This record gives sequence, structure tokens and C-alpha cells, in this order.
Amino acid sequence: MTITVVGTGHIGSTLAGIWRRAGIPVTMASRSPQSDVDGIPVLRLDEALSSAELVVTAIPGSAMGDFLADHATTLAEVPLIDASNNVGATVLHHAVQAGSIPYYRAFNTLGVENFREPRFDGTPADLFYSGPPSHQQSVEALIEAVGLRPVWVGDGPDAADVLDGLTRLWFTLALQQGRGRHLAFRMLP
Ligand SMILES: NC(=O)c1ccc[n+]([C@@H]2O[C@H](COP(=O)([O-])OP(=O)(O)OC[C@H]3O[C@@H](n4cnc5c(N)ncnc54)[C@H](OP(=O)(O)O)[C@@H]3O)[C@@H](O)[C@H]2O)c1
Repeated sequence: MTITVVGTGHIGSTLAGIWRRAGIPVTMASRSPQSDVDGIPVLRLDEALSSAELVVTAIPGSAMGDFLADHATTLAEVPLIDASNNVGATVLHHAVQAGSIPYYRAFNTLGVENFREPRFDGTPADLFYSGPPSHQQSVEALIEAVGLRPVWVGDGPDAADVLDGLTRLWFTLALQQGRGRHLAFRMLP
């Protein structure tokens, strides 16, 4: 399965690079396509989405509503992992607007540094995620390829709301309290 990463910024290029190095086929989609980023092909958005098998969105949360509306038909059956946070809004996710798209939330609760360095004293951090059971195996494989341990919290807007709380906890501890961005969570036991 080829992964289509939308957005060539910090999160998009970091995740795409990790998956490529892990041997996972990946392409990127951009509003301003170039031939490649670190050897990963970068396509025009409509071209990339027309044949996408699994999409990861890493664009500003404020752009996600339009993105979902513009591509709802193309992506109707295509699993989508949304890493975008609508920072500043009451709800950070777009689980409701996703409609019939199999919508997952992952890679949204931690700063990008934790995807580059997922281990703490040799122990991998957990990545909490949500979404329907249908493509859980693929989503968990992508989380594990980053070096994190996947923990499923449920499906639908309620589960995405739970993850919003975790994102806010990360912002509070890492940024407001100044504990630093290399900070993650682990469920015990
Ligand atoms: N940085 C983090 O630590 C972190 C962690 C977790 C989640 N997130 C979330 O992940 C998302 C991306 O964060 P980032 O740090 O990677 O941001 P970024 O470096 O600013 O990259 C965002 C990318 O989105 C694309 N983009 C920008 N405006 C757009 C628009 N109006 N419509 C469609 N695409 C647009 C651009 O790629 P093109 O120019 O190629 O189109 C841009 O490079 C955000 O929603 C953020 O909240 C970030």
C-alpha cells in the first residue's frame, strides 16, 4: 500500500522520510509540487489523491475543512489519517466533517520531535489514536514504523475529542510549563 502524505512541512516531511527509510512506499502531495523531497516524489494534490490508497494529512487544521469538502468524492472509501490540529479552535479534529471517509486521528498528540526520537531510556512512547476498525492494522503498522506503540482509544468524534484532550495536555506540559518538546506519554501497565 502506498502512503500519500499531504503537506510537505515539518510533520509531512518527517513522517514521509521515516516511512520511506522503513521501506514503505510513500509519495507526497503539495500545492506547489516539486520533483521530490529527499527522494520522495511530490505530486500535485489532485493527481496524488486520484490514486491514493491511504492518505495522511499534515496541513494546517484551518485548511482541513476545505480539504475534506473539496476531495470528499475522491476519498470516499480511502482511509485518511489526520495529523492536523485546528489550533485555537474549540475542536481540533474534523471527525464530523470527514463524512463517509474512514477517518483516523494519529500523530496529532505529540510534537514532531517525538516522531524523530520515539524512545525514552530505551522505551518507546505510546501513540494514542482513533478511527474505525476497518483499517486499524495499516494505521498501527505506520505508527510502529515510526517506533511508537499504538494505543487505540475508539472511533468517531467522541474518541477524537479524547485525543484533543491529550493534545492539549501535551501543549500544556511541553510548551506552557516549559518541560520541552521531547515529551510523550506511556500507558501503564
Ligand atoms: N509541528 C508539530 O510538532 C506538529 C505535531 C502534531 C501535529 N501537528 C499538526 O500537523 C499539521 C502540520 O504541521 P507542520 O508543523 O508540519 O506545519 P508546516 O511545517 O507549516 O507545514 C504545513 C504544510 O501544509 C501545507 N499547507 C499550508 N497551508 C495550506 C493550505 N491552506 N491548504 C493546504 N495545505 C497547506 C504546506 O505544504 P505544501 O506547501 O507542500 O502544500 C505546508 O508545508 C498542523 O495542523 C499541526 O497542527 C504539528
